[in-house]
Amino acid sequence: MLMLQIVWIQCLLVFGANVVLALENGLARTPPMGWLAWERFRCNTDCKNDPENCISDHLFRTMADIVVAEGYAEVGYEYINVDDCWLEKDRDINGQLVADRQRFPYGMKSLSNYIHSKGLKFGIYEDYGNYTCAGYPGVLGYLENDAITFGSWDVDYVKLDGCYAHPSDMDRGYPEFGFHLNQTGRPMIYSCSWPVYQIYAGMKPNFTSIIEHCNLWRNFDDIQDSWNSLESIIDYYGNNQDVIVPNAGPGHWNDPDMLIIGNFGLSYEQSKTQMALWAILAAPLLMSVDLRTIRPEYKAILQNKKIIAVDQDPLGIQGRRIYKHKGIEIWARPITPIYESYYSYAIAFLNRRTDGTPSDVSVTLKELGLQYPGGYRVEDLYEEVDYGILTPQTKIKVKVNPSGVVILRCDLQLEEFYPSNQFTHYAPLNQVFKVRQNSFE
Ligand SMILES: *[C@@H]1O[C@H](CO)[C@@H](O)[C@H](O)[C@H]1NC(C)=O
Ligand SMILES: *[C@@H]1O[C@H](CO)[C@@H](O)[C@H](O)[C@H]1NC(C)=O
Ligand SMILES: *[C@@H]1O[C@H](CO)[C@@H](O)[C@H](O)[C@H]1NC(C)=O
Repeated sequence: MLMLQIVWIQCLLVFGANVVLALENGLARTPPMGWLAWERFRCNTDCKNDPENCISDHLFRTMADIVVAEGYAEVGYEYINVDDCWLEKDRDINGQLVADRQRFPYGMKSLSNYIHSKGLKFGIYEDYGNYTCAGYPGVLGYLENDAITFGSWDVDYVKLDGCYAHPSDMDRGYPEFGFHLNQTGRPMIYSCSWPVYQIYAGMKPNFTSIIEHCNLWRNFDDIQDSWNSLESIIDYYGNNQDVIVPNAGPGHWNDPDMLIIGNFGLSYEQSKTQMALWAILAAPLLMSVDLRTIRPEYKAILQNKKIIAVDQDPLGIQGRRIYKHKGIEIWARPITPIYESYYSYAIAFLNRRTDGTPSDVSVTLKELGLQYPGGYRVEDLYEEVDYGILTPQTKIKVKVNPSGVVILRCDLQLEEFYPSNQFTHYAPLNQVFKVRQNSFE
């Protein structure tokens, strides 16, 4: 048994008037949710031998059908997103992008119409460079033209990758393509790979500009189907949180990449970990999994409404790692309801240890930075455990499985002391909480 004493955490609320200029297309006020082909289906173009799994019109219609029929749409999954490998290798004689004529025989407008007819939204993929990562035509040289094409197909979401492009051109190029998207008059979520390619090139991304021009962006490696890959992403977001966290907010999100829950690489515990951590990170929830064959326990994780509610919390404040010691981590995200300078919190306890028995973590709410004198209503978001109302002095004890997580929601207990209708005011969104995390290790 591992007992942890967290002796010192200071929560510092920063009240400031620093105004974040963000992309004002009215979209992605909470992190986008949907389905994205890449991690699971990759660049499988072999429809002759593998018709059910190749990147094709059929695949996206099928996934759209299931998203609606099996309850995913009902809990918030909305975008059906095409990734790389949807194009013909060459533009047509007029320089237009053309979807692969065999695999998308009805064209992208038809697929878009179908997805819209299901009440869902349609996302597409391109690349800022000369080619997409898989070698299909990129938008370079055709920025205005391709934005108009996407508008004419009623696209709702554009992911713009950064292969075959100079990272130093991106400060100009990504805003330029965004300008052309805007000029179409059709609101389209704009997902940028701008910072990650600059970081790879040793540059320091200008997040002021990225926030101004993109609804979401990738900071780090593509996710792969393994716990190893997931851990590296969790570490990256924890280790770089001082730079990353303040950039998130309604309309502009950090994107740690797709949910791989239900595939081959993660155990049940690890899958719960990804869902919980993505919610703490205010991450887009883009499932990349075969919804035809997913096992029910993984589907239940993806459809966990309580965790989705944390991810979609209207304050849009990204959470942080507030404790890391001997394989145990604690992550915290401020959420609604709030009162004056007090927040409610989602708290995730993560066990990175490999000794094969659950670890006990024991801590008072106050040590986690939860100081509201009226107390918190505490609830486990995976297990049916209601801790009731706890004061900041109460010690909570959780058992965390190896490579697993316990996630709690701690809501300010307002009604106990005040009539609830007094609490309609929200603190400014730019209040960022800071935890001096290393000082107690
Ligand atoms: C893209 O293609 C143009 C024309 O061939 C070339 O001048 C440019 O260097 C290429 N850009 C990159 C990033 O490879
Ligand atoms: C285009 O940009 C303007 C100015 O930021 C904004 O008000 C408008 O909603 C945008 N339109 C679309 C379609 O994104
Ligand atoms: C970053 O972008 C902002 C907004 O576009 C701009 O005002 C600023 O000069 C840029 N900073 C640097 C270091 O280039």
